[in-house]
Amino acid sequence: MNVRIAAPQKPLRARVTVPSDKSISHRRILFSGILPKISTILLDRCGADVFQSLRAIEQFGCTVTRTAMSPSQQLVTIRGLQDWQSPLSDVDCGNSGTTMRLLMGLVAGQGCEATLVGDASLSLRPMDRVAKPLREMGAAIHSTNGCLPINVQPAQLHGILYTPTIASAQVKSAVLAAGLFATGETIVVETTSTRDHTERLLGLQPYKVGEAIEWQIDKNCEFDIPADTIPGDVSSAAYWIAAALLLDNSELFIDAVGVNPTRTGFIEQIQQQSAAIEITKTNNSGNEPMGTLRCKSAGALSFMIDETTVAAVIDEIPLLAVLAAASGGAFSVRGANELRNKESDRIIATVNGLRAMGVDCELFADGFAFASVKRLRGAVIDCQMDHRIALSFAIAGLCASGETTLLGAECAAISYPTFFSELQALTGAVR
Ligand code: S3P
Repeated sequence: MNVRIAAPQKPLRARVTVPSDKSISHRRILFSGILPKISTILLDRCGADVFQSLRAIEQFGCTVTRTAMSPSQQLVTIRGLQDWQSPLSDVDCGNSGTTMRLLMGLVAGQGCEATLVGDASLSLRPMDRVAKPLREMGAAIHSTNGCLPINVQPAQLHGILYTPTIASAQVKSAVLAAGLFATGETIVVETTSTRDHTERLLGLQPYKVGEAIEWQIDKNCEFDIPADTIPGDVSSAAYWIAAALLLDNSELFIDAVGVNPTRTGFIEQIQQQSAAIEITKTNNSGNEPMGTLRCKSAGALSFMIDETTVAAVIDEIPLLAVLAAASGGAFSVRGANELRNKESDRIIATVNGLRAMGVDCELFADGFAFASVKRLRGAVIDCQMDHRIALSFAIAGLCASGETTLLGAECAAISYPTFFSELQALTGAVR
């Protein structure tokens, strides 16, 4: 599907909500799969990635029922199983790195055998970062040169002390998940903080050791899946925030958004130089902070991201670059090698898109940079089958001269299936 976008004729003045947080949805689904009882989860505008987790636990013997509550909301009930059954066929994780990596941790200590596969993009992504610590715990995991397919055989796990070398919530979560099936204690020492949704769900307490945080888990960990609302995904809200900042005379309220401090790096980057965004009215839902965001038009915004801040904005870097370019600001990101291992090589995909729109980008092995430009020009953008590239360049198209065509824009449905219809309703910018 190709989508054509032009500058809207009106400001963005609205009150919106965004789809259920993708990371929290995955975790509630996957961890409910190991509880021998019924858990209830309400999913709003659920993306293809999250459905992948639902289908996966069904293949391991969990019972899943889905009831449509409204055109956008589904109530899912899951009866989990203490002992997962070996799936009759390969488990397809689709495009979803979170499904794949968390499942590796959950399956490793089970008595079943499974082969995990994925789409072309996931098949290229590195899985040894998860397989390695799991093998240290005794897991029998076989990969193909560190990539898919992943075969997991039954094994008895034991706890380890693990200090990840890569800042990754998926790796941390996989090790903690395996720790639920291991003898003894598993400790993960995080030197760079990453999203803590798994720890919140499992009720783990952080121990501060100098600059690092230690998370401990063992078989006795007791947890429940909250039936409370899943907060809106702040990474999805980020596209509307950027649109409001960029379009003149805008004022946008985004309700019921997750404002977990491990996820608000994008907002903080903006707040450091502008008062155009504020978080109001926070409360807790299922041990996750949730709030309302108020955003209005801002001037030029420049961002300098280095290795100390990359992890806090890992999913928003293409959008931060678009926000800087479209607002007339400068941009630099370094120490971001991880971006090369996402759904696409996001350094290349972002630089190619920005260059097509007239930005003179300098490319580095670990990032890219550019000085301010006057105005983006409409262009044809290849979304590289990466939802965050499609969504980010849709926002770029709102501020460009002429028309922008997004090739392969259907990948937006990985995280935000209703994005283009909402964009049209809010701005009238979709041709
Ligand atoms: C996620 C963690 C991040 C993020 C991804 C979702 C998660 O990946 O980029 O979109 O839900 O744990 P890494 O753990 O690879 O950094």
